[in-house]
Amino acid sequence: MAFQQRVFSGVQPSGNLHLGNYLGAIKRFVEMQADYDCLYCVVDMHAITVWQDPVELKRCIREVTAAFLAAGIDPTKHIVFNQSQVSGHAELAWVFNCVARLGWLNRMTQFKEKAGKDRENASVGLYAYPNLMAADILLYRATHVPVGEDQKQHLELTRDIAQKFNNDFSPSIAELGLGDAFFPQPEPLIGGPAARVMSLRDGSKKMSKSDPSDNSRINLTDDADAIASKVRKAKTDPEPLPSDVEGLKPRPEAENLVGIYAALADTTKDKVLADFGGGQFSTFKSALVDLAVARLGPIGSEMKRLVADPGYIDGVLRDGASRARVLADETMGHVKDIVGFVR
Ligand code: TYM
Repeated sequence: MAFQQRVFSGVQPSGNLHLGNYLGAIKRFVEMQADYDCLYCVVDMHAITVWQDPVELKRCIREVTAAFLAAGIDPTKHIVFNQSQVSGHAELAWVFNCVARLGWLNRMTQFKEKAGKDRENASVGLYAYPNLMAADILLYRATHVPVGEDQKQHLELTRDIAQKFNNDFSPSIAELGLGDAFFPQPEPLIGGPAARVMSLRDGSKKMSKSDPSDNSRINLTDDADAIASKVRKAKTDPEPLPSDVEGLKPRPEAENLVGIYAALADTTKDKVLADFGGGQFSTFKSALVDLAVARLGPIGSEMKRLVADPGYIDGVLRDGASRARVLADETMGHVKDIVGFVR
């Protein structure tokens, strides 16, 4: 069966949207609108797999939505919504809890990282998180999923779940005339110079919402002064910049800053080094500050303007959810028939 080309991706509303989220995901969401029908989801049910203060959660859901819109996602041509408003996510996740194997989830590195040493005290939701993520994508039978590199393993699991469901239920799928595969194998779209943006303080750690040091990341709401100060303080080494990408290999901090520049300028690391190779970091950092402020400043101020109008944001989410529900209900109707539920 040929699947309609469709993009799905999600961002957790768990505070501090940063440059990694923007370059690895949101900027690419914007670009994909020209070629695909897209669904962009604020995954609030994923966020509560670790404790979230209810007042802060609401604020963050609206803030991520504002970031989507401020970056250039058009909620009238595509679908922008929050996960908890479409019950199909939870329903399909349950079916997938019964398809995925314990052994598969035991291999998930993000669970191990997030649960840390106190595994016994992690929520069951955190453990089953990847099944909900598979449900997000497959509820819309999405074919393409733009994400940062850290989501690669979750996408592989999604493909395994789709395949096992298709195999386990193949007689039922055929009987219902739904072709030979009900779910597609979604393609992860991971790439570009900023698929993995690293911490500004430590080139071996990824830039993350939860890093205790605010200087480790550029937040989308940072003003020009904060961006300038964080870039100037970013860790580097004493050597001048190399003249080609090969020379970046043993220098993770330099590689990170060059990758950020390339992604913000819509170019490649090679081209950036053609301009800055052989020069001092101070010159390069000044150019990076100007570029980052020019690209992120307007997004940050538009986000602030939008979050000041929660009524508008909530309306966008309600409208998106009602359109998402139509697609979700269709898939869930088929899934219930395939599994053998009476409806
Ligand atoms: P989340 O909320 O942690 O991050 C949102 C997106 O930002 C990307 N990202 C990065 N990219 C490059 N460098 C970084 N340092 C960096 N940090 C984060 C992430 O890869 C992601 O694309 N599990 C997902 C949310 C999710 C989802 C989905 C994604 C739930 N359901 C279905 C795609 C499809 C997550 O925690 O992303």
